Amino acid sequence: MSKKIFSGVQPTGNLHLGNYIGAIKNFVKLQNDDDNSCIYCVVDLHAITVKQNPKELKQNIRETAAAFIASGLNYKKSIIFNQSLVPSHSEGSWILSCIARMGWLNRMTQFKEKAGKDKEKASVGLYIYPILMAADILLYDATHVPVGEDQKQHLELSRDIANKFNLDFNSPDFLIAPEPLIQKNFSRIMSLKDGTKKMSKSDPSELSRINLNDNKDEIFNKIKKAKTDTEPLPDSEEELSNRPEAENLLGMYASLNDQSLLSTINEFSGKNFSAFKDKLANLIIEKISPISEEINKLLKDQKFIDQILSDGAQKADKIASKKITNIKKIIGF
Ligand code: TYM
Repeated sequence: MSKKIFSGVQPTGNLHLGNYIGAIKNFVKLQNDDDNSCIYCVVDLHAITVKQNPKELKQNIRETAAAFIASGLNYKKSIIFNQSLVPSHSEGSWILSCIARMGWLNRMTQFKEKAGKDKEKASVGLYIYPILMAADILLYDATHVPVGEDQKQHLELSRDIANKFNLDFNSPDFLIAPEPLIQKNFSRIMSLKDGTKKMSKSDPSELSRINLNDNKDEIFNKIKKAKTDTEPLPDSEEELSNRPEAENLLGMYASLNDQSLLSTINEFSGKNFSAFKDKLANLIIEKISPISEEINKLLKDQKFIDQILSDGAQKADKIASKKITNIKKIIGF
């Protein structure tokens, strides 16, 4: 069955292996299935929910777009654009914020994590950001949204908003409640320093993550220093249940090599970590280095990237502005 795919990535600094394995790798797979129509967005409006340096933001937007293309997204086949070029996202977000309930937003765990202890000082934008995300998705009638595990709750909120809008305005099936596409095994890549914490751009330790633009020495060094336990590698999936670091590293290997976790376990069972880490580092270099080289090449021609984004935005705007017009009609504007 053909799917309408929408997904987004924030342009907030280096993309890391978690973004690649949890999201972008899947974007490429979905795009390459001919039946799907795909829209991939650099969500710059989301980025300003925390303070950004304007010059760096502009560069990060280009870098994220370059990472999409370098990873295999094809701007002729998929729509690639940045969110702020299409005004309907902001407009839709306001309208949907009158549909969403405070109680729903109060349950969002990512806000609690990101706002930290002093939530009075967090921006209002950070609090309502899942509504902007709902607008992103609903404006394009997306049926499926590929994301990592951390976005699952936001997707449920998008579904709730769509259903409430349809109910409130007696317009069944007008907004499409999207299905999340979350991979079973590799949807949550963990920090290299702590297998119970998500790999994240905001972790102060550079050693906690592999960035898509890390060079070979950095990758070797980070994998060498990655936290492990003292046991040899396990014989079965069950044995991984209390070994988060082993599970994480084996999961990375499995995903990058397009094989199941079980066959990876079979390949390395009983071996010690140092031999496995060597293989893992080499595999990451093999998969990531061509991407980072391509990103650097693309970034030398900024006009080319800007053109791709503005061409993509024109196509996106056609779809989104039509939907907003219909939303307004339904509301009574
Ligand atoms: P963002 O920019 O934080 O992350 C982009 C994508 O990468 C996934 N991801 C991970 N997957 C596995 N392991 C990790 N450690 C890891 N870290 C990040 C995220 O789940 C995400 O899929 N709100 C979104 C962006 C967004 C969006 C949307 C997504 C805005 N509008 C509409 C889908 C549809 C975000 O902040 O992702």
